[in-house]
Amino acid sequence: MNAIEFHDVSVRLGGREVLNLVTLEIATGEFVGVLGPNGAGKTTLMRAILGLIPASRGTIRVLGRPAARGNPAIGYMPQVRGAGSHLRLSGCDFVASAVDGHRIGKPFPGKTARAEVNRVLGLVGAMELGRRPLAELSGGERQRLLLAQALIGRPQLLLLDEPMSNLDPHFQASAVALAKSLQTELGVTILFSAHELNPLLGATDRVLYLGRGRAALGTVDEVITGSVLSRLYGTELDVIRLNGRIFVMAGSRDVEHEPVPAHDLLGMSPHDA
Ligand SMILES: Nc1ncnc2c1ncn2[C@@H]1O[C@H](COP(=O)(O)OP(=O)(O)OP(=O)(O)O)[C@@H](O)[C@H]1O
Ligand SMILES: [Mg+2]
Repeated sequence: MNAIEFHDVSVRLGGREVLNLVTLEIATGEFVGVLGPNGAGKTTLMRAILGLIPASRGTIRVLGRPAARGNPAIGYMPQVRGAGSHLRLSGCDFVASAVDGHRIGKPFPGKTARAEVNRVLGLVGAMELGRRPLAELSGGERQRLLLAQALIGRPQLLLLDEPMSNLDPHFQASAVALAKSLQTELGVTILFSAHELNPLLGATDRVLYLGRGRAALGTVDEVITGSVLSRLYGTELDVIRLNGRIFVMAGSRDVEHEPVPAHDLLGMSPHDA
């Protein structure tokens, strides 16, 4: 069975077609890296899968059903963070707040809830962090708790929206390794968005690259090519491979580290592709 199916899906936000006739299938148990420049639609795609943003045309099916809000089989780690950082809440209480939060229809009873919180803290190796006040934790430590929160209720599909932002290279590698182990040990389907491809190279089965409303889904070798990326960015790009790393260049600029200015991308309609 496919975990995710988009058939001719368009999503409009603020009068702009963020996704334009996207068709794709992601198999159950796949690890897919979701890439693309700022504003390409990575978050929008995840929110559409969650049923939080409707498609203006086409159909989205998730785990065999039409996308709908409040699906307890999906774990979501949102990109916008920082909520609760001013509170004296312990890490444990913060993770527990998702147990009876909006995602799960039926809250767990007290003892089961505590066991579930301990289970997910164990999965992300954060038992010790759970005992500390949230306000004391570093950005990266808090991110670990957010990942724990996304794992509540044993989701079959995990949508991780930029789980590596704020992390140094060492913790970036451990976030990827953690997601990979959830895929291999629990069979979870994973969408993992990022601004840089290289940390994902050893983990991702395929990549979904977004740009100017379009999507390209395939292996790294199929998608990370000058011709595919030039079409998605709407500007001439080269792909350079060096010591097992891949760089996407616009002239002498590395577009993942020095993004193409927004006006270069936004000035063009998605229909130009
Ligand atoms: N609620 C909204 N109303 C209007 N436009 C929106 C809304 N949410 C997002 N957009 C626009 O949709 C486009 C896609 O945004 P999205 O957040 O999906 O991009 P992204 O790929 O996740 O970018 P980033 O890498 O910056 O996180 C952007 O141009 C954004 O300004
Ligand atoms: Mg985003």
